[in-house]
Amino acid sequence: MIKKIALTAVAALAISGGAAIAAGGEGHIHDVQFSFEGPFGKFDQMQLQRGLQVYTEVCSACHGLKYVPLRTLADPGGPELPADQVRAYSAQFDIYDAEKDVDRPRIPTDHFPENNDAGAPDLSLMAKARAGFHGPYGTGLSQLFNGMGGPEYIVSLLTGYTGEEKEEAGTIFYENTAFPGGWISMAPPLYGEDVEFADGHSNSLHHEAEDLSAFLMWAAEPKMMDRKRTGLIAVVFLTLLTVLLYATNKRIWKPIKKAAKEA
Ligand code: HEC
Repeated sequence: MIKKIALTAVAALAISGGAAIAAGGEGHIHDVQFSFEGPFGKFDQMQLQRGLQVYTEVCSACHGLKYVPLRTLADPGGPELPADQVRAYSAQFDIYDAEKDVDRPRIPTDHFPENNDAGAPDLSLMAKARAGFHGPYGTGLSQLFNGMGGPEYIVSLLTGYTGEEKEEAGTIFYENTAFPGGWISMAPPLYGEDVEFADGHSNSLHHEAEDLSAFLMWAAEPKMMDRKRTGLIAVVFLTLLTVLLYATNKRIWKPIKKAAKEA
């Protein structure tokens, strides 16, 4: 009887699990080893600078980064551009100055521009707004071991175009193996060799996508290194405290236990 119930349960799980995969239309995400993964992970300064370049030369045409202050480009642990380069970078974007009723060049205390022209979502928080890893079967175990997978999702999206297109109600959709539903209205933005990196790093499609995703991860969570360091210190501290408390506990109760044994 129990065997029968167990079998039915397994069968039900298998069927519902299969149905969930079929209905979800979840895209294909491949894992990427980023430098910022793991408890000791760090952003790669040169990679962030290359990602900034890809964003500036390609993505910024349609996507804003309105929550990211330009001055953070100089912050330690980030792209760490020298102050004069941050000033020069900022000055290429204009901003409306309401007080003087004129457009003026941006300064480092301003944010990156927003961009709503093409109906493209802002990318400031995109690396944390999307999840690449799920399951199995809604348990979230994969995320526990692999992380949320936001940057992996973005790499997979940028490299996931199949080349197929279709037109629906006047909009062209492009087939993409990572995008939920399989068809996205963004034309493939990267093909490889879209930018020339000053450090001579490979500008293949995959490398450009990885650099860009690392940059967006930094934009979404610039203090990730601080969070990891604090977490690590907390774990070490709590471990020590546990050992000390255990020893103290033993010591305090020792005479009483001894007395109890002798009584
Ligand atoms: C020509 C305009 C254009 C350019 C250039 C462009 N995008 Fe997009 N992007 C869009 C539009 C429009 C959407 C909304 C697509 C949709 O929801 O179907 C979008 C959506 C996205 C999304 C969100 C997908 C999701 O899960 O909802 C990401 C991530 C993205 N773009 C990244 C990039 C990156 C990175 C670049 C630069 C390499 C880039 N885009 C360049 C127009 C553009």
